[in-house]
Amino acid sequence: MVTTIHDDIAEVLISEELLQARVRQLGKEISRDYEGKPLLLVGILKGAAVFLADLIRAIDVPADYDFVAISSYGNATRSSGVVDIKKDIDADLTGRHVLIVEDIVDTGWTLRLSYITEKLLARNAASVRICALLDKPSRREVDVDIDYRGFVIEDRFVVGYGLDLAGRYRNLPYIGVLKSDVCGDARNK
Ligand code: IMP
Ligand code: MG
Repeated sequence: MVTTIHDDIAEVLISEELLQARVRQLGKEISRDYEGKPLLLVGILKGAAVFLADLIRAIDVPADYDFVAISSYGNATRSSGVVDIKKDIDADLTGRHVLIVEDIVDTGWTLRLSYITEKLLARNAASVRICALLDKPSRREVDVDIDYRGFVIEDRFVVGYGLDLAGRYRNLPYIGVLKSDVCGDARNK
């Protein structure tokens, strides 16, 4: 038997069908809200890439996309209050309506400490909003205004549809919870 990434999944939390249906709804909502407004989706690498690829095809007003990479934080970084933007946008943002696309908002520190909203506004973006596929509000440590959210989930470590554990499982077409022998202890308490 071939061993696949599916073998490591204990539970499918959000099926492929449910994901696709919700992404289509979000696309409709975004298309309505951005009618006549030049839209730029800005995905946060790497996790948001899969979601963004589906989302933009569910949007039927003119839209372009780009990506930024934000360095991950350790506790030292968090206390120093610095999160670097490792790959920035080259395009001129003047007058463009930016929608930041994130895979999951957990503690909120990544979005907050990167000052990404402020930095994009400082480059004359007409507006900056946030779209997150998943929201884990029970884990939040700092406020993040999420304008479009796909699903609210409980405090469990999830993988798939772009989300990874150590670079694995991004290619699952659904959101799943790993078997405990694969993900270890702490992450799914
Ligand atoms: P925050 O800064 O705590 O909001 O973390 C956001 C980032 O942590 C996300 O963009 C993910 O890369 C990662 N993350 C948080 N929770 C999960 C999860 O359950 N599975 C995979 N990655 C996660
Ligand atoms: Mg991420």
